[in-house]
Parts: sequence; structure tokens; C-alpha cells
Amino acid sequence: MTSLTAARREPWKTDGPRSVPQAFPYQGSKRALSAQILSLFPDGGPTRLIEPFAGSAAISVAARRYGLAGDVSLSDVNGPLMGLWQRIIDDPEGLVDDYSRMWTEQQEDARAYFLQVRDDFNRSQDPTLLLYLLCRVVKAAVRYTKNGAFNQSADHRRLGAKPSNIKQRVFEASRLMQGTELHSESYEPFLVDAPRDALVYMDPPYQGTTDVPDSRYLMGLRREPFVETLQRAVDNQVSFIVSYDVVRDDNKYGLKLPDELGLTHRHVVVGVSSQATLSGRSEMSIESLYISPALVQRLGGEDNIDARIDVEPADQASLF
Ligand SMILES: C[S@@+](CC[C@H](N)C(=O)[O-])C[C@H]1O[C@@H](n2cnc3c(N)ncnc32)[C@H](O)[C@@H]1O
Repeated sequence: MTSLTAARREPWKTDGPRSVPQAFPYQGSKRALSAQILSLFPDGGPTRLIEPFAGSAAISVAARRYGLAGDVSLSDVNGPLMGLWQRIIDDPEGLVDDYSRMWTEQQEDARAYFLQVRDDFNRSQDPTLLLYLLCRVVKAAVRYTKNGAFNQSADHRRLGAKPSNIKQRVFEASRLMQGTELHSESYEPFLVDAPRDALVYMDPPYQGTTDVPDSRYLMGLRREPFVETLQRAVDNQVSFIVSYDVVRDDNKYGLKLPDELGLTHRHVVVGVSSQATLSGRSEMSIESLYISPALVQRLGGEDNIDARIDVEPADQASLF
């Protein structure tokens, strides 16, 4: 690594991903990446943070946990998911009570209970039922039919997090996320109209190489309009970071974001992937981060970015 200059900051050190509460299980959570992303927060006090593909909002929770975010705004097209965030923030006791009741009720016939709750959720869209489903489904992964019905199956080997565990997670997340602005809308205005002193962190659903809708989340993301919207945000000098996976679970490579956007692209090593561990191989999981020119400038240039996320420029080349 080239030598540090006075303006450089050492990589951000967290107490590890487990030091940050995850209010509810959610596939695609970026908890494991939080240290590298927090390293890219501008200096000079808590940042206004906008997370328009919120999901379980791992980065916002981590940023609040470490005092790096002031005002936080979360949005996700999944309405019941944002309803769940509303309850976590406004009524954690009631939410945990409801979860505890459901967790106990299911003991008699867990399979039938799960199916009943899934049907009820598809009728009512009740966020509390979504919490139960997220705790019970395979890999904490939401799956939807073309018509928007939740259709993921239960993991029958376990009954979901114990109420005492959920209580700890929900209470802690609730405390950290007080005052958060919540929306359930598509991401575009939150990105394009973001104030210049804000930071927008985006973790869109991975689209792969085609434009088919993504059943993994309520709404897939078409690549071309996404790229056009990023361009508008670049033109508006918005500071943003996008996580955009290049290496997928199945080891296929997706498309990079186009060079014309002028984003700074860095790979970060997240650690041994759970897939690899299961199959006995020791493999690193590589994530892609794209950083907007306005943020690169606020951070003092690309060299500073490498120092902050602790990567060797030479390593970057070998990862392509
Ligand atoms: C990869 S997940 C985000 C996970 C998140 N980083 C976390 O820590 O849990 C992507 C999220 O984007 C949401 N989403 C999909 N299309 C969207 C859109 N057009 N606007 C806003 N959110 C969208 C999905 O519902 C999903 O929750």
C-alpha cells in the first residue's frame, strides 16, 4: 500500500458485525460489509444518511450504533417491511409480545401454523405476521409470486428465533433507530434529490444479466433505468455508495455498472462465504462497491478511499 498522507484516515474498525443488532433476519443483509462501508462516511460529524433499498437496514443501524449517522431516512418498496420498521421504532414492546404469542402458539403444529400465517399475511399484509414469516422461512429469504404473494417455504428444521432473542434484537434496534424517517416508495427521488451534505447508501436487488423480474424481492430492478437514475444523481453531485454484486452465489459474473458513470469501483473481501463453508471450501466472498465522484471528492480522492477500506490497488486488478 502506498504511504499514508496526513489527510488519510485508517480503516474504520467496528467490534465486528455481531456488535450491530439485526432487528429481523433478512437475506441480503449487509452486516458483514458494515466496517468497509462505514469507512467511507465523510469526516466531520454525524452524516445525514439515506438508505432507499432499506431491507433490514444493516448499514443504517451500524452507522447509528457507531455514531456516524445523524438523521436517517429509510425506504423500501416492500410496504409491510417498512410497516415492520415502524412497529420496531414506535412499539417494540407490543411487537415482541405479538411475536412471543405466535412463537408459542405454533408449537402445537408448526407446519400448519406457518401456512396459516402465510395465508393471513397475503390477505392482510400485517407487518407483525411478516416478522414471524421472516424468522421461519428458509434462509430468511423473501420470495414472491408474479402477483406479489409471499410464497417462501418454512425451514422445518427450526422454529425461528426464540422470543428472548427477538426481544433483545428489536429493543436494541428500536433504541438506535429512534427518529428515523420511514417511507415505502421506489428509490429514485431519495437518490436524485438527496441534499449535497447527505450520503445515500444503496443495496439494490441483484438483477443479473437479464431484465427478468426478481422473485427474491417484491420488485426486481431493471438495469437500464437504474443506470440512468445513477447518472442523474452523479449530475446532481449526490454523494452515494452502491453495493452491486459482481460474483454471485452460483459463481456467475453479473454486469458491472458502466464506466461512463465515472464511479470509483472497488472490490472488498467480506470473508469466507457461508456457501463455501458448507461445502468445506475456504473461499472469500467478494463484494463490489461503487462510489460517486462527489463522495470521492469529499473523501479527498481515490487514494484515500483505498486507505480507508484497506485494499491494495494491485489486489483490485487481480480480482477482475
Ligand atoms: C438486497 S435488499 C437490501 C438489503 C439491505 N441492505 C439489508 O441490510 O437488509 C434490496 C431491497 O430493495 C428493495 N427494493 C427492490 N426494488 C426497489 C425499488 N425500486 N425501490 C426501493 N426498494 C426496492 C427490496 O424490497 C429489498 O428489500
